[in-house]
Amino acid sequence: MENRQYIEKINKLRKEKNAVILAHNYQRPEIQDIADFAGDSLELSIKAAQTKDKIIVFCGVLFMAETAKVLSPSKTVLLPDLNAGCPMADMINESDVKKLKSEHENAKVLCYVNSSAVVKAQADLCCTSSNAAKIVEYAFDKKQEIIFIPDKYLARVVAEKTGRKFIFWDGFCPTHSRILPEEINALKTKFPDAVTMVHPECTKEICDIADEILSTGQMSVFAKKSSTKTFIIGTEEGMLHRLQKENPEKKFILASKNATCPNMKKITLEKLANSLETLSPEIVLDSEIIKKAEKSIRDMVEISKKIMY
Ligand code: 13P
Ligand code: SF4
Repeated sequence: MENRQYIEKINKLRKEKNAVILAHNYQRPEIQDIADFAGDSLELSIKAAQTKDKIIVFCGVLFMAETAKVLSPSKTVLLPDLNAGCPMADMINESDVKKLKSEHENAKVLCYVNSSAVVKAQADLCCTSSNAAKIVEYAFDKKQEIIFIPDKYLARVVAEKTGRKFIFWDGFCPTHSRILPEEINALKTKFPDAVTMVHPECTKEICDIADEILSTGQMSVFAKKSSTKTFIIGTEEGMLHRLQKENPEKKFILASKNATCPNMKKITLEKLANSLETLSPEIVLDSEIIKKAEKSIRDMVEISKKIMY
C-alpha cells in the first residue's frame, strides 16, 4: 500500500473509533502531519490528561504512552510499535531508585518523564526538559537535596540554573550524545550569523557552545519569535520538520547527521493504520503502579499549568 492509501485508512478509522492521535516532535514528518497534535513531552502529557476521546494513539516511545495511560487510565492507549522504547529510560530501574532513596533519606526524587511508570511510582515529582528548572524552584525548598533521575546531562543544566544540590544518576540519551562539538563548531564557522539551539539532553561540551538550551517545544517558540534567519539545531532530526513547517522563510540546519533516534522512527503510517484497525498494541499497566505514578505526574501537570503558560 502507498502512503496515500494508509492516510485514507487512518482518517476513516480515527473518525469511526473516536481516536485522538498524539505525536512527539521527533516522529517521522508524515506521522507529525497526520496527528491531531504534535508537541513536546509536557504538551503531550497535558493533551493526554485533557482529551475526551476514548482512544489515544500515541506516536512516540513507550514512556510517553505509559504517561498517557497513567493520566487517563480508563482510556485505551495504543502505541503502534511496542518495541519503541527509550534507552535512557531503561538505564534506571525500581531497585536502583529504592537504593538511592535509602542512601539519601532526606532527599526528594525528581524524575525526568523519560523513565518507566514503575520508576515514576518511586518518585516525589516528575518533570520534563521544558519545566525542570521551574518545577525545582516552585516545588522544593532551597535547602532540599534532590535526587535527579535518570538524565545526568539535564540534571547538570538544571542544577546549574537553580543552584540546588543534586544527586545525579548516570543516565543519558545515546542519540543526543552522538552530537559532537566539532560538528557544531564547523557549522558555526560556515554560518556565523546562525543561532545554535540545543536540547538539554546534549553533553556539557555541546551545551557550553550553544546559544540556547531548550526543550523541543521551547525551540519552536524561540524560532518563531526570533528575528534570526538561520539556526543550527542540536537535537533529534525529526524536530527540523516542525521548525521548517512553522517557519518556511527561515533555515534550519541539523547539528549532526547522527542525531536520529531509531526508536522514534519505529512508528510508521502502516503501523499507525494497523493499530487503529486492531486497537493494539495496547498499554497495560498494573493498577498499583498507576496509582503510585499518578501523583508525581499529575502534580507536575498541575504545577506546570500554573507556572508555565
Ligand atoms: P522534549 O520534552 O523536549 O520534547 O524532549 C523529549 C525527549 O527527550 C525525547 O528524547
Ligand atoms: Fe530516548 Fe533519546 Fe530517543 Fe528521546 S531521543 S526517546 S531520550 S533515546
